[in-house]
Amino acid sequence: MTDPDPLLDAVLRGLSAEPKTLPPTLFYDDVGSALFDRITTLDAYYPTRAEALVFDEHGPALAALVAGDADAVALIEPGCGSGGKAEKLLQHLPAVAYVGVDVSVEALIGGAGRLSLRFPGVQVVAIEADYHQPWALPELPPARKIAFFPGSTIGNFDPADAVGFLAGLREVVGPSGAAVVGVDLWKDVEVLRVAYDDPEGVTAAFNRNALRHLNRRYGATFDVDGFAHESRVDVDRRRVEMHLVARGAQDVRVAGRRFRIEAGESLHTENAYKYDLDGFSDVARQAGFRTLGWFTDPDVRFAVFALGAS
Ligand SMILES: C[S@@+](CC[C@H](N)C(=O)[O-])C[C@H]1O[C@@H](n2cnc3c(N)ncnc32)[C@H](O)[C@@H]1O
Repeated sequence: MTDPDPLLDAVLRGLSAEPKTLPPTLFYDDVGSALFDRITTLDAYYPTRAEALVFDEHGPALAALVAGDADAVALIEPGCGSGGKAEKLLQHLPAVAYVGVDVSVEALIGGAGRLSLRFPGVQVVAIEADYHQPWALPELPPARKIAFFPGSTIGNFDPADAVGFLAGLREVVGPSGAAVVGVDLWKDVEVLRVAYDDPEGVTAAFNRNALRHLNRRYGATFDVDGFAHESRVDVDRRRVEMHLVARGAQDVRVAGRRFRIEAGESLHTENAYKYDLDGFSDVARQAGFRTLGWFTDPDVRFAVFALGAS
């Protein structure tokens, strides 16, 4: 018996589906994490800058909403990356603990080290885990638990799955807990499309890296340059889609299985759902959270929600 590999299972399921899909977790090996860091600095990719404006302008008010009257809080961040955004929130919170959860060990090591140095009084815990799978919270000092999910990653879930994921966070933080969630807002279609297809081609490299990662990690045989990157806006579903479209037919082997990809066929690699303020409040409500407040950047491109367990 070999150990279960949920990522490989998701890959094989996605390549067997019609139309074919790949799980977004595949983007994040060390090359993909570095490419994502570059994306966040691109002119076309507004969400990171817009979100940073919200934290800079409204960080203290946001922290006050979720901390309430608690004199000790524990911040819990699934998909924490290098923890840079947690720093912006921790500085305003009576934090006694920080728990970062990520599939990337490199990101965890760098982030945990930096946060420990910056906040010597805060117990910093790094957990290597896939947040789609059950993971256990370690023993923490008594504190209000606050889940932190910035960067519009919630948009990568279908709305029903976003409810399920937030409901899982609601379980983690408990009845006196809270959450801070970053949400990208619906806007001009071309602004959205270009955010996922920048002229420098960094997002294209990030998207193709999912296949390189598959080749490296599982000995798959994708001809990566045989795929074109495309971003498509689906106005009805309010989402941006990323695709890899085969320029020519390919027969690919992945973990002993063969897959035929026809010329022009797409591998759908990511959805990024965009919300309006009421729409996201409703998702949060269905997950067992009430909206305590939200803050946007001055151009209302991006919102950060403060949620309390209901
Ligand atoms: C787009 S970055 C966001 C990082 C940070 N939260 C922020 O907003 O800047 C996504 C991070 O989530 C991690 N990640 C992606 N899928 C994951 C999964 N299924 N489980 C745990 N971590 C995941 C990646 O390794 C990466 O560090």
